Amino acid sequence: MNKKVFVTHQLPGERIHELAELCDLNLWMGPGLLPPEELREELEDCHGLLCLLTDRLDSSVIAGAEHLEFVSSMSVGVDHIDVNAMSARGIPVGNTPGVLVDTTADTAFALLLAAARRVGEADRFVRQGNWREENAWAPDFFTGKDVSGATLGIVGLGAIGQAVAKRAQGFGMEVLGWSRSGRDVPGVNSVSLDELLLRSDFVSVHTALVPETRHMLDAERIASMKPGAVLVNAARGGIVDEVALAEALVRGHLYAAGIDVFEREPLPADNPLLHLPNVVLTPHIGSATTITRARMADLAVGNIIAALGGEPMPHCVNP
Ligand code: DGY
Repeated sequence: MNKKVFVTHQLPGERIHELAELCDLNLWMGPGLLPPEELREELEDCHGLLCLLTDRLDSSVIAGAEHLEFVSSMSVGVDHIDVNAMSARGIPVGNTPGVLVDTTADTAFALLLAAARRVGEADRFVRQGNWREENAWAPDFFTGKDVSGATLGIVGLGAIGQAVAKRAQGFGMEVLGWSRSGRDVPGVNSVSLDELLLRSDFVSVHTALVPETRHMLDAERIASMKPGAVLVNAARGGIVDEVALAEALVRGHLYAAGIDVFEREPLPADNPLLHLPNVVLTPHIGSATTITRARMADLAVGNIIAALGGEPMPHCVNP
């Protein structure tokens, strides 16, 4: 009898068609994202799950998935999954590393440039009809912050952090770096987190969200950042205390921020960052290019195909 595999969204890429030949495939057709109660229901009798980062698999959801044998997420981050609970049940969890590195680094750098040069604010100014004779080019008109020659501190020196470092070097920045594992990267000056925050004109976050990094940039650490610095986060919202960040931006301790990821997504209307002009906000689009998303989907499907064949997943986060 074929195994039952549930896929929580329609996917791009080629390999999803292969999967249909290999299992009893059930694909959520929407509209929109899969509601949590539907996920619970579908998990009652499926053996394999291919999910997105929007599908929360906490211990109670996993407990209800009696027949679940393997899971693959179309994401590199797996903080939406209780991996320990999966491991305790012997369920491998796959992810999609590698293929989104440059795309995500581009997004982080785009946010850095946009925040430094006030691109969001300037765009709104023009669209709202404010660019008039009495309010036009002047020596101090929309002046921003220089990127070239500035110091960038990269928090997390995995593949994406390193790709951001390369971009920064191309822009003539000095690059400082810190990682939890104490990794050394050529061209990046490894320093302590305290020193990085103290010295950096720009700080870009590229670490995974795990219990040790939750609110790693809390009020105290944000207060220790160089006055006038810019914070960029294209990793996970939970790493930064958003309320403390908003306060630092309002006080003028920080110059600006470029934020792609949030503690709660989609962003609730009462998020304090939403109303600040000096924050560039994007809706978790770090890996959002057509080609990268197709590659991610193909990797995620490849993990499921391997598991169906009794093979180890090519990209598995738990031992
Ligand atoms: C991931 O894969 O974890 C990214 O956040 C998707 O953009």
